[in-house]
Amino acid sequence: MSAPRGQFSSNIGFLMAAAGSAVGLGNIWGFPTNVAANGGAAFVLVYLIMAFLLAYPVLMAELTIGRHARRNMVQALRGIATGPINRFLGGLTGFGGILVASLILSFYAIVAGWMVAHLAEPFFSLAGVEGTAEWLSANSTARNLTFTALFSALTMLIIASGVEKGIERWSTLLMPSLMVLLLLLIVYVLTQEGAMEGLKVYLIPDLNQLSPELLPELLIDAMGQAFFSLSLGVGTMLIYGSYLSRQESLPRLGVLVTLIDVGIAFTAGLLILPAMYVAREAGTEIFDKAGNLIAEDQLVLQVLPALFDTMGTAGLFVAIAFFALMVIASLTSSISMLEVPVAFTIENLKIPRRLATPLVGLVIFAISSLIIFNFKALFLLIVTIATKFGQPLLGVALCIFAGWIWRRDQLLAELKKGHEDIEQTLFWKIWPWYVRIVCPLLILTAFAQSVM
Ligand code: PFF
Repeated sequence: MSAPRGQFSSNIGFLMAAAGSAVGLGNIWGFPTNVAANGGAAFVLVYLIMAFLLAYPVLMAELTIGRHARRNMVQALRGIATGPINRFLGGLTGFGGILVASLILSFYAIVAGWMVAHLAEPFFSLAGVEGTAEWLSANSTARNLTFTALFSALTMLIIASGVEKGIERWSTLLMPSLMVLLLLLIVYVLTQEGAMEGLKVYLIPDLNQLSPELLPELLIDAMGQAFFSLSLGVGTMLIYGSYLSRQESLPRLGVLVTLIDVGIAFTAGLLILPAMYVAREAGTEIFDKAGNLIAEDQLVLQVLPALFDTMGTAGLFVAIAFFALMVIASLTSSISMLEVPVAFTIENLKIPRRLATPLVGLVIFAISSLIIFNFKALFLLIVTIATKFGQPLLGVALCIFAGWIWRRDQLLAELKKGHEDIEQTLFWKIWPWYVRIVCPLLILTAFAQSVM
């Protein structure tokens, strides 16, 4: 007999876990740098539209399928399909999701490892152990392996404790701390010289960026960002939905998750863009000779540390707060990625969670190590395959499963659970056909554009 399935103990627990999955490096690093690279506020505008028009409907498809099936992605999609071909396609899509979730975790853990190393560094500086502090801030294979291992081990520890005691407890603890840290940092940075200029770039749209030549690229970047940020396509939201009680309204929880995700990305912009300009004021180059923003990885790993350096001892504490924020954001996301293959292993191979977690975790750590040793060849390649191709295409597949393959009456019945008056809502009038037709078409169009 396998152990009973886990479940979130409350809607707040689910909300913290799902928002924890959504809010991550994608919000605090990806979104602000995308804004800076795509001409400021114009990107913010397009992103907001994408998040609500494309990402939210796909999120709803995942949550609804997950809660109905109460299984991992492979079994869930096979379960709602009728006929051998559809069942086969369901299994295939499910495996695709598990693969892509694992690939995302394999590179995410590396970047999160950098954050842990940068978090440790100021402590050694404060203690006067300069050699170690330098080792921690320099990009070496040994450091990257060590900290990826450390971060992966933390992720595994939480996942091994299960849904309520692991995922829910830690997300509920970490998410509020993340918000407090973010707000403290914003208050601090906004009082520094140069901050207002960054704020202007962030908040006043440059409508030239919406010109016909630049628009396609902006749209695709915004779509990719929205899918990555809401953790879509790979079955994280599906599996979290599968741990959710039938007494909760899915559309409402889905909107809340989207709002929190978008809200924190927007708030992180209030930190990062002003910080960039504060750094420039303090003498750090943030644009290259051609006037383009310097490489994204340099922003968080060079520009901001350079800024913290100019602040003397206070800078050490600001650095600690900033990298703690990054580590927390990464951890609540990485656990959601690991849960996808772990849930599959538990439910399909019928092995206990405490065994499944290290087993799967070590395989993914092996992929991370492979990337670390072949960083130049593999890192960007895997990021691109997983996020630019994997996530949107799986998103289309999920819309097709929800909209076409799954029996309509079952889909609608699942939506009604926990939401008595749903038939009066706009959601009910729009979403069921929107997810069928408009959503897949929009994603495919944007996707075709990006391939061309
Ligand atoms: N949403 C996370 C972020 O914005 O950093 C990244 C992510 C988490 C992607 C979980 C995919 C996933 F399954």
